[in-house]
Amino acid sequence: MSLLLDVDPSLARRLAKDMDERGHAVIEGAVSAEELQRLRDYVDAQAQRHDKQYFAYHGLDALAGSPLAELAQAAGFERTLARLHQAGAGEAAASSRIFPVLRCVQGGSGRKESNAFHYDATLITLLLPIHIPTQGEQRGDLVLFPNSRRVRSNVVLNVIEKALLQNRVARKLLCLAIERGWLKPQLLPMVPGNAYLFWGYRSLHANQPCAVDARRATALFHYADPHAGSGLTRWILRLNQRRARRASERAGGRAGSNTAHT
Ligand SMILES: [Fe+2]
Repeated sequence: MSLLLDVDPSLARRLAKDMDERGHAVIEGAVSAEELQRLRDYVDAQAQRHDKQYFAYHGLDALAGSPLAELAQAAGFERTLARLHQAGAGEAAASSRIFPVLRCVQGGSGRKESNAFHYDATLITLLLPIHIPTQGEQRGDLVLFPNSRRVRSNVVLNVIEKALLQNRVARKLLCLAIERGWLKPQLLPMVPGNAYLFWGYRSLHANQPCAVDARRATALFHYADPHAGSGLTRWILRLNQRRARRASERAGGRAGSNTAHT
């Protein structure tokens, strides 16, 4: 994944500009055919354990020994994300921790995990598509309301805002408004091998559902929590950890030690 390592400051500025102005940035051919195959081999081996149902692995512990963990721990990758943060936010991130996640949407339980609109806990979200369905109408496109909010200076305001938007009723209303054409999000079809970047903290987002017999697997790398160190954030992370563990146990997966979706 050499293109993701040591992105130089001028490319970081171009990517940050795209994220600001177009809502997302793309690094084409970020992953070579061989590297993509390694990611697919890992996902396919894990998918066998989950009886064709949704699973997600959150954090380095859950992903130990995987190509995702390797990338998350590569020094050059941290430099890339640090430069992007500097270019976009005009300052260094408070924390240099990279939080990797593997999501695999498949089967009936995968449909339940789709259209789950949320803001990420971290400013930067980098998404690597591993498996994307090529058949059918619903292929799990990324649905984005890019840069729909600013970074909140107050963690309490952040929590209230998220509580109002990230619940079953609000999500149903959002889906209805999109269906009727009252709201027009950005739909981003993804190509395995490319990397997609957006301001995850600032952009309400979800994935579209896939056909029950299709598989959509993505690697996500979260970087720079604007509220790092806040007691409230730690408490919410613990609640989310429990929720992720329950969801994963229902599907036979492993949630890991943390989640980035505060
Ligand atoms: Fe997210």
